[in-house]
Amino acid sequence: MNAATLLAQLWDDYVASTPQALRIHRLLEGRGEQIRNDHVALRAYGVEGLGVEALAKSFEAAGWKQAEDRYRFKDKHLQARYWRHENPALPKVFISELIVEELSAEAQELIRGLVAQVPAGFGAREDLAWAGRPWRLPHATYQRLLEESEYAAWMAAFGFRVNHFTVDVRALSSFGSLPELNEFLQAQGFALNASGGIVKGTLADRLEQSSTLADTAEVVFDDKTVRLPSCYYEFALRHPLPNGEMFQGFVPASADKIFESTDVAQQLRG
Ligand code: NI
Repeated sequence: MNAATLLAQLWDDYVASTPQALRIHRLLEGRGEQIRNDHVALRAYGVEGLGVEALAKSFEAAGWKQAEDRYRFKDKHLQARYWRHENPALPKVFISELIVEELSAEAQELIRGLVAQVPAGFGAREDLAWAGRPWRLPHATYQRLLEESEYAAWMAAFGFRVNHFTVDVRALSSFGSLPELNEFLQAQGFALNASGGIVKGTLADRLEQSSTLADTAEVVFDDKTVRLPSCYYEFALRHPLPNGEMFQGFVPASADKIFESTDVAQQLRG
């Protein structure tokens, strides 16, 4: 699968569960903007054959190369890496995974129960990044995981699908700053993630980011259907390093807060 097909499939799957992204995309296009994506973000359980490396395979086959940086989110029990394409117009691919061994024995057991249902060969699928949820799930399992890790619960409920696309704000021409874009979105009725402030990161970090609060989607459990926060849209404004090159990495403290865009509790507050 080539890079364009991969991204188009990923986008189609994303907007199916995140209609706000399509609305925002069209609003920006309506202002004459040509939208470029800074990165797409994927989530995984860090287990054999289904983790970061399994998700990266299709992207590597389509020309993305792994960057050296490693990110660790201790409180959330996550680690992440990212991939860049030689065509700078294509988004970076940021892939995180849950370090399952750091959760309680009970949560590990529940995740093992989900993973045990995954059909043979699933992790090798070319379309793994939008292959969906390969396990059945009682609502109580979701609730128990949610008590311990919002990320673990999201992954259980939604499975394999892109968590967010991110607009490259520097490539927009009609906004002078990230706050200006945020105000435009809020005026259009979109709720933004305010955890740690609307704008995460500073000029000194070389990366400023904001995001919407996740859309909601109906999730079918074994015993009931529940509407849950699905995916969100992110906005990134990058700044050059002292050597003049644009900063391409990520800022863990900011990403840590951005992860909370799918937080059920925050949705209720917001
Ligand atoms: Ni992101």
